[in-house]
Amino acid sequence: MRSDAWYAESGGNVRDAYIHRAWMRRGTPADSFDGRPHIAIANTASDLTPCNAHLDEVATAVKAGVWAAGGVPHNLPVMSLGETLVRPTAMLWRNLAAMAIEEMLRANPVDGVVLLGGCDKTIPALLMAAASVDLPAVVVPGGPMLTGTFRGQPLGCGTDVWRLSEEVRAGTLSAQEFTASESSMIRSKGHCNTMGTASTMACLAEALGMTLPGFAGTPAADARLLALSHETGRLAVDLVHRDHRPSAVLTAEAFHNAVVTLAAVGGSTNGVVHLLALAGRLGVPLDLDDFDRIGHEVPLLVDLQPSGRHLMDDFYRAGGLRAALAEVADLMAPGAVTVTGERFVDTLADQPVWDPDVIAPRDAPVVAAAGIAVLRGNLAPDGAIIKPAAASPGLLVHRGPALVFDSIEDAHARLEDPELDVTPDTVLVLRGCGPRGYPGMPEVGNLPIPRRLVELGVRDMVRISDARMSGTAYGTVVLHVAPESAAGGPLSRLRTGDVVALDVPGRTLDAEVDPEVWAAREPSPASTAAHARPVRGWERLYVDHVLQADRGADLDFLVGRSGSEVSRESH
Ligand code: FES
Repeated sequence: MRSDAWYAESGGNVRDAYIHRAWMRRGTPADSFDGRPHIAIANTASDLTPCNAHLDEVATAVKAGVWAAGGVPHNLPVMSLGETLVRPTAMLWRNLAAMAIEEMLRANPVDGVVLLGGCDKTIPALLMAAASVDLPAVVVPGGPMLTGTFRGQPLGCGTDVWRLSEEVRAGTLSAQEFTASESSMIRSKGHCNTMGTASTMACLAEALGMTLPGFAGTPAADARLLALSHETGRLAVDLVHRDHRPSAVLTAEAFHNAVVTLAAVGGSTNGVVHLLALAGRLGVPLDLDDFDRIGHEVPLLVDLQPSGRHLMDDFYRAGGLRAALAEVADLMAPGAVTVTGERFVDTLADQPVWDPDVIAPRDAPVVAAAGIAVLRGNLAPDGAIIKPAAASPGLLVHRGPALVFDSIEDAHARLEDPELDVTPDTVLVLRGCGPRGYPGMPEVGNLPIPRRLVELGVRDMVRISDARMSGTAYGTVVLHVAPESAAGGPLSRLRTGDVVALDVPGRTLDAEVDPEVWAAREPSPASTAAHARPVRGWERLYVDHVLQADRGADLDFLVGRSGSEVSRESH
C-alpha cells in the first residue's frame, strides 16, 4: 500500500511511523495500519454550496462501505464551489480547486479516493485532480433535486428563472408573482434538476467509466443514492486491490463515449470545456473538432430542459442514463472499461425505457443530429461552439449587423435602453469575457434580449461571445470564441455595424469586412481597457497562465500528470 510509506516505514518500528500511527489512532481498529487500503473521501460539502450541502450524509454512507470492504476511510473536506454564490464566477476557481485537491491527495497517506461532487465545477475539478495524481478513484455524483412545482406547473431550476425573469421584463408577469415562485424552485437537497452543467457532468462521469453503472441522475433525495454510495465505498477498496487507476479508465475511447453521451442527452456546452481540460491532464488527444466529428450525427434522445420539457427526476423515472444510451450503444467505443472493470458498453445491456415521452427511441429522436457544432472563420480562428439543439432553427443561418459590447457591464447598461439602435436581425456581440479577459470566462454569453425587442415579443437573437453560457440557458448563442479578445483574438477588432455571417450547417463564423481593412484593424481601445489586470493572488496567477477555451481553460502548468509520488520525505 502507498500508505505504508507513512505507517509502516522500515517495518513500522521507527519514529515517523510511530507519529503517523499515533495521531491516527482515534478509535480505529488495531489492524488499521497493517496493509489495509486507506481511502480518502474528497468531499465538496459546504453550506455555501447548497447543491452539495448533503454530501456529508453521503460521505457517511461511503465510509460505511469502505469499512465493510476492509478499508479505512478518511473524510477529506476539499475546496467547494457553489455556482450561484461564488463571485465573480465559479469557473475562475475550478483550476484552483483541482490543484488543491491534487496536492492534498498526493500529500496524504491515501491509497485511493472517492470523489463527492455535484454542483457544476465540483465534479470537473475532482476528476482533473484524480487524473493528475492517478490514484485509484471513483466518483459519487450528488444527484439532482426533486421537481418543484408552482401553481401546478413544474419548475426547472435555473432554466425557469431565466424564463420567468424575461416574462417580468416583457411585462407579462408581475414582480410579486415572480418572487412568489422562489420558495418552490429548490424543492429538496441536490443540484439543478435540468440537464444543466451539474447533471451533464454526472452523466459524463458515468460515460467516462468513473462511476458505478446506473449512478448518474439518481436524485439526491432518493434512498438509492445512499445505497450506491455505500457500494462505491466498497468499490474504492477493491480498486486499490486491483490497482485500477484513472489512467486505465479515462482513455481516448472513454472520451469518445463521453462525447456521444453529451450529444445524446443534450448536455451543457460547459461539458466541452471540462472534457478538454480533463483530457489535457491525461494526455488524451481530444480536441474541439472531435466534438463535431464524433457527436454531430448523434441523435438527441432526452427531452429535458433547458431545451426540452422534462426534468431529471422524470429522466430517472423513465429509465435514466443507461436506458437513453442503450439506444446509441452501437456508437460507443467498445474497448472502454469502467471502474468496475467491465466494458462500458456492456453496462447498457437490458436497459428498458419506461417513458418514451422522456427518452425518445432512436428512430424518432427529439433532434436527429444534436451534437455541438464547432465553428471557424475570421472571427474564431481557433474555434467557437454552438448547441444547435438549444437554438432557433431559423437563426442557424443568419447575416446581420453587429452590436458590440466591451464588457458585461456595458451590455447590461445599454440593453435596457428603450432607444437602443437594434432590430431582430442584429447580432449581439460580447467580448472581454473569455478566460483571461474577465477573468474566469463567466456564464454571460446568453445576453438578455434588448428590452425594446422583448416588448415586441422577440425571444431569441444571434449572440456571439468569448464567454460561456449557463447549462440551464438556451438560445442561438455562439460561445467560447477562441482566441478571446483579451488574447488578441479577432473579436477585439470587430466594430458595431460590421456585418457578421453565421452559418451553422457550413460551420462558419465570419465578419464580412474587406480582408485588407480587417488585417489593418487594431484592437478596440475600449475593449482593451475593459480587460482584467489583477496584480496579485490567484487572479494574477490565473490570468498569467490560463489557456484558451479550445484547450479547456486549464492552467498551462497544470496540463498533464505528476502522479502520486511525494518528492521529499516528511520531517
Ligand atoms: Fe449548483 Fe445549478 S447551482 S448545480
